[in-house]
Amino acid sequence: MRAVDIIIKKREKEVLTREEIEFFIRGLTSGEIPDYQVSAWAMAVLLNGMTAQETTDLTLAMANSGDVIDLSGIVPIAVDKHSTGGVGDKTTLVVEPTIAACGLAVGKMSGRGLGFSGGTLDKLESIPGYRTDLSKEEFLNQLSSIGLVLTGQSSGLAPADGKLYALRDVTGTVQSIPLIASSVMSKKIAAGAQAIILDVKTGNGAFMETESEARKLAEVMVSIGQLSGRRVIAVIADMNQPLGKAVGNALEVKEAIATLHNQGPEDFREHCLYLAANLLVLGRKADTLSQGRSLAEAAIKNGEAWEYFRKLVIAQNGDIRYVDQPEKLPEARLISTLRARTNGWVHTVHARKIGEASVLLGAGRARKSDLIDPGVGIIVGKKVGDCVVSGEPILTVYANNENRLKEALEHLSNACVVEDYPAEPLPLFYGVIGDVKA
Ligand code: URA
Repeated sequence: MRAVDIIIKKREKEVLTREEIEFFIRGLTSGEIPDYQVSAWAMAVLLNGMTAQETTDLTLAMANSGDVIDLSGIVPIAVDKHSTGGVGDKTTLVVEPTIAACGLAVGKMSGRGLGFSGGTLDKLESIPGYRTDLSKEEFLNQLSSIGLVLTGQSSGLAPADGKLYALRDVTGTVQSIPLIASSVMSKKIAAGAQAIILDVKTGNGAFMETESEARKLAEVMVSIGQLSGRRVIAVIADMNQPLGKAVGNALEVKEAIATLHNQGPEDFREHCLYLAANLLVLGRKADTLSQGRSLAEAAIKNGEAWEYFRKLVIAQNGDIRYVDQPEKLPEARLISTLRARTNGWVHTVHARKIGEASVLLGAGRARKSDLIDPGVGIIVGKKVGDCVVSGEPILTVYANNENRLKEALEHLSNACVVEDYPAEPLPLFYGVIGDVKA
């Protein structure tokens, strides 16, 4: 078999066999297939799609590119959550410790920033020392000792996703149902959780802009999860405006810390509590969503969720002083504020433009080798539906470089729209795929 023939076959809209997909993923993982061929193949997949069988074969080949962890002898049940990517989405940082505090083990393999979307690993790495490359043994030891792991794919765990993910980020090959589904589900299968909630975003700041595309992606992932014997549901969540107020790595960690201290923006807190409630029912810790929500609320209120976050940071070598005193976390030195020019109501806070501006500032990558600047980002002062008075801050931009600041401000110039008539707040969720009690 030759990689070039597989690329051509997909370019010609033909269906790849399991053997061809396995060959390609093996070559990609070992480095025998070079980046330029992998990128060409990813573009062919993005343009021409894959059948359900190809997507399942791709997912399993990627999961099997490293170890597949069996957690059955380690903890009674392990749960997990995964977002399909969005702007200001720091949900994992709150939901996972909250769930662990409620007594369910959480072992998660997260991702990095992808295109205009932030990534949990980049956020966590704004805490000096925090390790995101745990080995399989470290993953298992930490899960059994503290019941909470938040790491990335490594050379041992879903390595194919690590390589493909980094290439997709910088080659315009993110927005593809088979590539997203296989990326997400290969990590979930490799990490071994038995119950999984997928947070599938829709809107201009999501990879699936329309609700119908988001539902299609959710259905594909739920079905792959079920085929692999996992209990899986997906929620369809709004991503037309950033989630919460903070966008950018350290800024988002600070907002997650505030939320774990029972503060934080209302929309973000609600989003986290809804996901946590579902996960607690899925993991059989609660019988109903309202019971799950009460457990999650209590874990945040009584400080247990925060304690689990601290335990996680310590276990993964993070410098705990930076989360105990979050003002120590990196913060950019140039601050510029965009203010409302008239009185009125906010109709648009364009998530994608804000995500793109934060990448321009250095919160994401334009090339694989780019370093992340943890201190830069944007704080959203007003959300859709809010009333605003002329001169009030709408967006505050944090930068470390004058040129980048200028570019970001230009990019943001029409990201927010204020009109002289009221706007309805945006919903948080549009629906659920799968049965949480199944
Ligand atoms: N999250 C992932 O892990 N992979 C994707 O492709 C998108 C979001």
